[in-house]
Formats: sequence, structure tokens, C-alpha cells
Amino acid sequence: MSTKGKVIKCKAAVVWEAGKPFSIEEVEVAPPKAHEVRIQVMATSVCHTDALNIDPNFKNGVFPVIVGHECAGIVESIGPGVTNFKPGDKVIPFYTPQCKKCKFCLNPHTNFCGKLRDFKTPTADQKLMEDKTSRFTCKGKPVYHFMGVSSFSQYTVVSDVNLAKIHDDANLERVCLLGCGFSTGYGAAINTAKVTPGSTCAIFGLGGVGLSAVIGCKVAGASRIIVTDINNEKFTLAKALGATDCLNPRELDRPIQEVIIEMTNGGVDFAIECIGGYQHMRAALDSTSVGGGTCTLVGVKAGDKALDVSPEELIMGRTLNATLFGGWKSVDSVPKLVNDYMNKKFNLDLFVTHTLPFDKVNEAYDLMNQGKSIRTILTF
Ligand code: APR
Ligand code: ZN
Repeated sequence: MSTKGKVIKCKAAVVWEAGKPFSIEEVEVAPPKAHEVRIQVMATSVCHTDALNIDPNFKNGVFPVIVGHECAGIVESIGPGVTNFKPGDKVIPFYTPQCKKCKFCLNPHTNFCGKLRDFKTPTADQKLMEDKTSRFTCKGKPVYHFMGVSSFSQYTVVSDVNLAKIHDDANLERVCLLGCGFSTGYGAAINTAKVTPGSTCAIFGLGGVGLSAVIGCKVAGASRIIVTDINNEKFTLAKALGATDCLNPRELDRPIQEVIIEMTNGGVDFAIECIGGYQHMRAALDSTSVGGGTCTLVGVKAGDKALDVSPEELIMGRTLNATLFGGWKSVDSVPKLVNDYMNKKFNLDLFVTHTLPFDKVNEAYDLMNQGKSIRTILTF
């Protein structure tokens, strides 16, 4: 029996208050309105931005909410005016829209899109659909969306500019990682830092994002890739992906930036910060060389002190930048990244340390927070 045009009752993980665990609930998912698509989520992973938004230190969190934004699924039904999708299409939604009409979308040098409504932070944005209402209810209450995706639900509704159709043969339990973490780290190296052949790079933090940045540096032809992590277990995979030197800051008798500057005779060409927090941003910027070094910020930490930068540091020829979704124009790029994965340009399989049924979302969240997983895939 077709579900088109009807409310769907299904399972979702709702967070009722900041700092509270996920609660598996039955929710109602309304049909898609104009330019919206309802999708059946087939696989989702857990990413730090989900944790950030439900952290009591994060001031922009709204509740109750269904978080989750790294996923892949199948189109169930489309709303009026949707032309690019049909039921049955395999799709990946993302938090960075690409409307292809605004001044940013028409500018080849940015992947920002004017449909991101709150320009201060993409994580606080898209908590409702464009008409400022929610498609989710639970126990009679409206439930907020998250980053325009809300993948911790068997069915979700997304805007048609936050969605890409992908290859029919794509393995959704792997390519879901292209909805955020992998694309962010890989693109941070390729598009934002613009790592050059023969260059020296330093990657701070070897979670899913940092390891993806290592792959990006390798694909871009870097000749030296220095990686840092406080967890020595991360170094085996980092080396397999192309890291040349591994540093554990806890095993050093000096600040990490001093060691990196010494190892590289004055600093690296590219430093990519994938941990989050003031001290790591500072260490990454300090590690870049005068006269051409680029520091790219990727990590975000709730409630931390901001980076202070003196003009002299940049006058001496350093560049400081940061990445939004790895600089990819989402709708155009994600299907190509899926094809690159299928053509073995990079290996996402190495990132999947755990696969669990969706009901174990709290376990997946704990594995992430305890540093025991790179990515856990939840299946429905
Ligand atoms: N020095 C070096 N490495 C550290 C340190 C430190 N002081 N503290 C933590 N790390 C390492 C952790 O051991 C872990 O391997 O940083 C890594 C962070 O990885 P994950 O927690 O898996 O996070 P990830 O999903 O990769 O995201 C990284 O990017 O998008 C942002 O919000 C996200 O801030 C997060 C960052
Ligand atoms: Zn746009």
C-alpha cells in the first residue's frame, strides 16, 4: 500500500533535553510539502556535530530534536514542484544546500549557499523546514529538525536543494559517510587548503575527519604527512593511508608546534586542524611556515575560547582559512565522490569500525565519545 501523501509512523531517536540520552520513540512524519522530499533512511552514522548540538555547553541547541546528518537513503515520495527525484532513487542528503540560483551558488569559488539561513553557524540552522514548520511530531509535540537532515529517524523530510541522487549500485552503508565527515576532511585538504604536490602537511587529530584529510593530502601528492593524536592506536591506519610521521603530544617534552617546526626546518606548508578547540587551532597555526604556510580549521568545540591571531602572523605570509563541508558544492560533488569511491579512488571501508542496529544509537554515541570508533554505521 502506498504511503504517498500520508503521515508515516516510524521509529526515531529523539533527544528531549540537552545532555539527555537518545530516546527511541514512535514519531509521525508528515508528507513532503513543495520542493521537499521524504526519504527512507537506510544507513546513518554518528558524527561529532550531532554530539555538539545536544551538548549543554552549546548555546544554540533546540529541543526536542531528531539529530543525525550523515546518512544515505531511498526516496519514498516527493512534494509538489520536485523535478530532480522520483520514488526509489538512492540519495544522500546534506546540511549544505546548493540551490544553484543564489549569488553564492553562481560563484565558482565558494560552496556556501544562501539557503543556509542562519549565517552564524550551519549547525544551528535548518532546524525547521523553509516554511518554518516541522514535519515531525512525537507524543503530540512538534520535534525540531537538525541541519536540514535529521537522519536518526526511519523516515525524514528534506529540502530538494539539500539532496543528491547517487549511483543505483552504491552501497548505502558506506557512502552515507560522504554526507559529512569524509567529504569534509578530504575536501579540506583538496579544496580548502589546496594541498600541492611535493608539499609538507600536518594533520591534527585522527578521527574520521583527520584520516580523511590524510587521504586528501595523499591524493593531492603531498610528500610528507605528519599526523598527531593522543591515541597511538590511530597511527596504524593513518600510516596505511599515507602518513609519514606520527606524533603523540603526550609523549613529547615540548609543545607539538615546536617539534613540527624543528622537523620541517621552519614549519609545514599545510596544517589542517581536525580536533576542535583553542589550543589545537593555535598549535596548527604556529606549525605553518612563514612565507606561504596555510592553516585550515575543521574542528569545532562547544563553548571554547576563540582563536586570537595577530596581524603580524599573517603579514609574514601565512593564510588562515576554514572549511564548510570540505568546500564541495554538495549537489554537484557528492554523486562524483560516490563514483570515486566505487572506482576505488579512496577506501571508505577502513573507516567503519562498528555496525549496529539503529536501536543501539546510545552505544554508538558512547563509542564515539570514548574514542573507540572511527565511524559506527547504524542500520534500520
Ligand atoms: N592532540 C591530538 N589529538 C587529539 C587530542 C590532542 N590533544 N585530543 C583529541 N585528539 C584526537 C582524538 O584521539 C581523535 O582521534 O582527535 C581525534 C578526533 O576525532 P573524532 O573524535 O573521531 O572526531 P571527528 O569525527 O574526526 O571530527 C573532528 O571535526 O567536524 C569537526 O566537530 C568535529 O571537532 C570535530 C572534528
Ligand atoms: Zn544557493
